Amino acid sequence: MAAMTISTLQKMKQQGQKIASLTAYDASFAKLMTSEGVDFMLVGDSLGNVVQGLDSTVPVQMSEMVYHTQLVRRGAPQAFVMSDMPFMSYASPQQAYQNAAQLMQAGANMVKLEGGSWLIDTIKGLTTRGIPVCAHLGLLPQSVNVLGGYKVQGKEQQQADNTLDQALQLEQAGAQLLVLECIPAALGKRISEALTIPTIGIGAGPDTDGQILVMHDMLGMNSDYLPKFAKNFLAESGSLAGAFRTYVEQVRDGSFPAAEHCYGS
Ligand code: KIV
Ligand code: NA
Repeated sequence: MAAMTISTLQKMKQQGQKIASLTAYDASFAKLMTSEGVDFMLVGDSLGNVVQGLDSTVPVQMSEMVYHTQLVRRGAPQAFVMSDMPFMSYASPQQAYQNAAQLMQAGANMVKLEGGSWLIDTIKGLTTRGIPVCAHLGLLPQSVNVLGGYKVQGKEQQQADNTLDQALQLEQAGAQLLVLECIPAALGKRISEALTIPTIGIGAGPDTDGQILVMHDMLGMNSDYLPKFAKNFLAESGSLAGAFRTYVEQVRDGSFPAAEHCYGS
């Protein structure tokens, strides 16, 4: 199979083919996910929560993102790998260039940044310099201390309109992918229809162009908490390979996410 690229993902949107993505943090899981058909992987700064045992992503360091990006790349040489830029690593465009370069040299194909129109110059500068950018709107975990907790975003009409407006500005600036986290399904649909770049949802309803889940959530590894938008695919399929395969199949045929995994407005 040909290597996955941003052009392939763009084509999948145009053809109405759903994109199935998961987070990965190490070589063994990256290899297994790829062989089970996962379209791309995100080295998420959620590694702060699920690997390091922290209660937010705020303390995650660049050096840690570089390390985990190297591990994932080693396990899946042909895969499309996106890496998160951690908290404060893109506070200015100059910082963003230097830090994004480290992630690209560690094996990333694209970097992801959380935020809206304040990132326009940074996104333009990165893409001009050869670094593809995925934007991230809705719930922004790095801003948990400003938001006052992990809550669904964009429930009010004005906030929803604002999120759509920001999405259009980020696309205009050169973002080539957009993650939408914890927003009403109707807003996920509206933004996905308005943009030409693929949208990847987590708790953003069934109508985004693709889905992403944190690996540990979809394997049900936290026995006392499963987010509303996630499903335990390991319980459903009985093996790790089966869990990844079933997830890919259900994203592709549209059976995941179901209504119970989505937020209303
Ligand atoms: O860090 C992460 O896992 C993410 C996903 C939730 C999109 O940013
Ligand atoms: Na993240």
